[in-house]
Amino acid sequence: FSRRRLLGGAAGLGAVGVGAGIGWGAAEAVTANGSDGSAGQQIEPFYGPHQAGIATAAQAHAQFVGLDLVEGSDSAALTGILKVWTEDAARLTGGRAALADTEPELAHIPSRLTVTVGVGAGVFGPAAPAQRRPTWLRPLPAFSIDRINESVWGQTDLLLQVCGDDPTTVAHAVRVLTKNVRSRVRIAWVQRGFHHARGSTPKGTTMRNLMGQVDGTVNPRSDLDFDSLVWDDGGQQPWLAGGTALVLRRIAMQLDTWEELDRHARELTVGRTIPNGAPLTGTDEHDTPDFEATRMGIPVIPPSSHIARAHQRSAREQFLRRAYNYDDPPGPGETSNSGLIFAAYQQDVDAQFLPVQQRLADHDALNEWTVPIGSAVYAILPGIAEGDFLGSTLVS
Ligand code: HEM
Repeated sequence: FSRRRLLGGAAGLGAVGVGAGIGWGAAEAVTANGSDGSAGQQIEPFYGPHQAGIATAAQAHAQFVGLDLVEGSDSAALTGILKVWTEDAARLTGGRAALADTEPELAHIPSRLTVTVGVGAGVFGPAAPAQRRPTWLRPLPAFSIDRINESVWGQTDLLLQVCGDDPTTVAHAVRVLTKNVRSRVRIAWVQRGFHHARGSTPKGTTMRNLMGQVDGTVNPRSDLDFDSLVWDDGGQQPWLAGGTALVLRRIAMQLDTWEELDRHARELTVGRTIPNGAPLTGTDEHDTPDFEATRMGIPVIPPSSHIARAHQRSAREQFLRRAYNYDDPPGPGETSNSGLIFAAYQQDVDAQFLPVQQRLADHDALNEWTVPIGSAVYAILPGIAEGDFLGSTLVS
């Protein structure tokens, strides 16, 4: 089957459709036919109203790949890329080799693989109608805390988010997806992230970041929360209905100085305990923090703590946080190069993410040990039914 023919427009979608229901931990991954039921054979549904990889219970491994369209790319070029990615993603997430896959055996352990595709502001105008750009799809303002290295971890035209419980499968998927469009894009960066290994903690355990904190406790969980906070309703841009907005920030952690703090000081910095992530006014992780509580006249959760500053001031100031740890080789003279690939999904960046980020930039006790070094904003494309291709409502 000729890849050229596919780029030319034939969608030729595979037959992996496994239903549409996706929810936070609600839709269990299904097991591939004829499998032994092992974790490696679990499949996340590819088709549905929303792309997988957002409401999907976070997999153990992730690669975020930022790509730019080559000079002179038009709508036909973007359409070709989206069709190839749709075809490849439908097959790979279903545990089937991509067309002309040179290593088909590497596709046979889907392990809850998801491929999620987003577009940056740069595609609007050259490759998609300019008037279809959502107003929030633009670079974030520069915050005082930022040390963004735009040429290394900056905005790109396209985003591939590939997540799975098996790092070999994830690597193979990224390789297939990127090489099959190599004449049409340039890879700007790859951000590799991880959680605890699959099976090493009880199901539903919130991950720990590399500062040792339980991270991801307060998050929209129900389908209702997702509908009102995360999934685009098409109100501003009808083509985006079922999609979402992603703010991707790469945030470095200063582990050397963080480790100098004693345990209590670390807990006061975040407002939660280290052992189980309970708010300092509670005992269990999911207890509601009491920001008014005082002990001998002193607030139990310091007003400058991360959760006091980040906590929503209105119902709209909420979003889904689905962060991954990164731990890359240290540079010369450094002892660590670790941090968070902070991924926040929502309907409207301006209304939901920005006020919170601005408040944290103005003041947050955690800022002493965290430094944003990368920043990008994407429109995550709506999900599709079998026979359609990702982004069809954007480009046609
Ligand atoms: C909560 C860590 C950056 C927004 C938390 C919690 C931790 C944490 C440990 C408490 C547990 C939880 O609810 O997840 C970090 C670290 C960061 C970081 C280590 C950087 C390296 C950010 C950024 C934002 C943010 C950039 C948004 C602009 C929030 C929100 C909460 C939260 C909204 C929940 C607050 C509430 O209790 O209502 N974070 N965070 N965080 N964080 Fe962060």
